[in-house]
Parts: sequence; structure tokens; C-alpha cells
Amino acid sequence: MTDVNKPAPDAAGETPAAAVGEVAAAGSPAPTSFLEVRDLRVHFPTDDGLVKSVDGLSFRLEKGKTLGIVGESGSGKSVTSLGIMGLHTAGQYGRRKARISGEIWLNGQELLGADPDEVRKLRGREMSMIFQDPLSALHPYYTIGRQITEAYQVHHDVAKDVARKRAVEMLDRVGIPQPDKRVDSYPHEFSGGMRQRAMIAMSLVNNPELLIADEPTTALDVTVQAQILDLIRDLQKEFGSAVIVITHDLGVVAELADDLLVMYAGRCVERGPAEKVFYEPQHPYTWGLLGSMPRIDRDQTERLIPVKGSPPSLINVPSGCAFHPRCPYADVPEGGVTRTERPELRQVRDGDEHFSACHMAREDRTRIWTEEIAPKL
Ligand SMILES: Nc1ncnc2c1ncn2[C@@H]1O[C@H](COP(=O)(O)OP(=O)(O)O)[C@@H](O)[C@H]1O
Ligand SMILES: [Mg+2]
Repeated sequence: MTDVNKPAPDAAGETPAAAVGEVAAAGSPAPTSFLEVRDLRVHFPTDDGLVKSVDGLSFRLEKGKTLGIVGESGSGKSVTSLGIMGLHTAGQYGRRKARISGEIWLNGQELLGADPDEVRKLRGREMSMIFQDPLSALHPYYTIGRQITEAYQVHHDVAKDVARKRAVEMLDRVGIPQPDKRVDSYPHEFSGGMRQRAMIAMSLVNNPELLIADEPTTALDVTVQAQILDLIRDLQKEFGSAVIVITHDLGVVAELADDLLVMYAGRCVERGPAEKVFYEPQHPYTWGLLGSMPRIDRDQTERLIPVKGSPPSLINVPSGCAFHPRCPYADVPEGGVTRTERPELRQVRDGDEHFSACHMAREDRTRIWTEEIAPKL
């Protein structure tokens, strides 16, 4: 017997994400989630053609939760975060205007259609961002204290000494020793790790409800990396904000993220609770990322099952599954479907918020993961 209220399962016995209503389609009513991104597309017209940096990305995030967005360099992670922050404006960084569509809902307000002045007000106050390179975000000629103070005063009508006191408090909070002295230092007088702490202080000075950390530790050595990640985790607990941590290294988000979203060529190929994605990964690309994680108990140069080849051009994304030219299992699904049809995100199991976009039948994926991949990790 068939249940007419239930969408028909596809060949792999899974249900399309849209049919489960996981993230509502663009144009439907305002969501109840704190952050909901619906069918985000960010395309850049260039002389060589249209670069489809982000091409139909949807996800949501609640207050107090951390989402890890993972993917190789060039998969569209930074373009996504700049899109949420409303930083793809015409002429930004001397680049051509991006073509953006979809919806970005933050706290009940849609940002893509909103007045840019409105979004500017939200930036720094409701949402803020930590970049990979603090030197690109900190002004070299102004003291750290002045920059944090000014960031505070943009959103708070307070006297300078009050704002300065707040800056010292924040520097203390992020673990800068002698904050009342270091507040008068210039960025170049800080070490890389200290600069990253200062930038975190600056981005948190207004208690933003959404914090996006884009490769926050990539430029730092391993020990400092761990300290910065601990700091982000502590601050998130303290402030209860929603956090997005963007990284090319799954290891960075292993202990930090509640949910994971794996990006490939501007799209999501797998998303779900972190433990599902780590322990029951469904997509061959996710297997590759797990296989590329450095392991402390092994020789650091040994990568177990690295993803072979390089990411595709986002001007000519491969037909069918964008990952097929690099996928060792492209021929497992019958009929060459991998090369002709784009796989949709599908729910892995009823009741789970775990989705993956792969043409392989679930039994094949489970078998390959448990018998071939997992034993080698
Ligand atoms: N302003 C732009 N104009 C044209 N292409 C861009 C622009 N910004 C980013 N891209 C391209 O979009 C793709 C995704 O970039 P990005 O989001 O920075 O990747 P990553 O995942 O490494 O953060 C890359 O191929 C990049 O070259
Ligand atoms: Mg990036």
C-alpha cells in the first residue's frame, strides 16, 4: 500500500530533501530558524564566462549551535560567507558585481532583498566575521584598541573611555595578557595568534548573534590553532551565538561542530549532524575528506585516501554529478547516470536530518564505506 502523503522514494529508497521540507524552497514563508539560507546562488560574470561560485545552497542554523562548512579550496565557502554578510556589493574590491539570488533569513529578516543600509547596520552588531588573515581586517596604522573601540562606538552611543574600557575587557576575555597595556599596541606588534585573538575580540565586541569564522586557524601553527578553536567554543557557550566555522580541514571542526555541511563545486553534497557525517558518511567526496585528515597517531605526511585530482572549474562544472571525474565509484550506479544527471540532496533515512547527493544506492554506499573505507581510517 502506498501512503499518498509521503513522497515516492527514488531508486535508492531515499526521499528528496525538498519533499521532506528540510529547508523550504525559495519564495515560501519566513522560517522559524535563526538563520536560513535558501537556494543561494552567487555567480560572477568574467571575461572567461560565468563563474558559478555558489549554485543552489540551502541550510539552516539555530542560536547556540555551530555549523561546520567543509570543502577544498575553491568550493565556494568564502563566497557563501561574504554573501551572508552582504559583502558582494558592486565594485567591492574592484571586482565586478556578483549575481546573487535565493534568500537569506536572519532572525526573521530577509537580507538579500533588504536595503543595503539596513544590512550594513546588522553587520558588526547582529553578525560578524573572523577572517583567515587578521592583517587584512586590522588596519596597520591604528592601535588594536582604537579599532575595537571604534567598532563598538559604531553601534553604541558611548563616550570614548567607556568604549576603551570595553576594548580592554574584550582583549582580556580572548586571552591577551596585560590587556590594559596591549590595547595600545599596533597589529604588527602582535604575534599571528595574538592578532587572531584581537580580531576575535573586535568581532565579538558587539555581542553578535551570528559569527562566521572563515578558516580562522589556517595561518596559525598547530598549538595556537587548538587554542583559538577552544576560544571560539568557549565564547560561543558564553554568548550563545550561532557560529559558522569554515574550513578545508575536517579536523578543525571535528570537536566544534554540531552540524556539518560538505561543499563541492558550489553545492552541498552532504549535510547532517556532525556524528552522522563523521561515522556514517554517505558521499565519496566526504570519504575523501575524512581520508585526507592528518592523524596524530600516524606519520603526518601519510594521507590515507586522499581525493585524487583537483576541483573543477566553476565556469564549466562537469555534467551530471560534479564529482564524477574524481569519483572512484562513478561506475557503481548503472546506466551512466552519474555522468548525465545531477544528483539531488536526499534524506539518508526517515527521521534523520542527514542528506547526501549521490547516485549510488544506499546499500552500495553502506557496503563500500563499512568494508572498504572505514577499516583504513
Ligand atoms: N569576485 C570574483 N570574481 C570571479 N570569481 C570569483 C570571485 N570571488 C570568488 N571567485 C571564484 O569562486 C570560487 C569559489 O571561491 P571561494 O568561495 O573563495 O572558495 P573557498 O571555498 O576556497 O573559500 C573560486 O573559483 C574563485 O576563484
Ligand atoms: Mg575561502
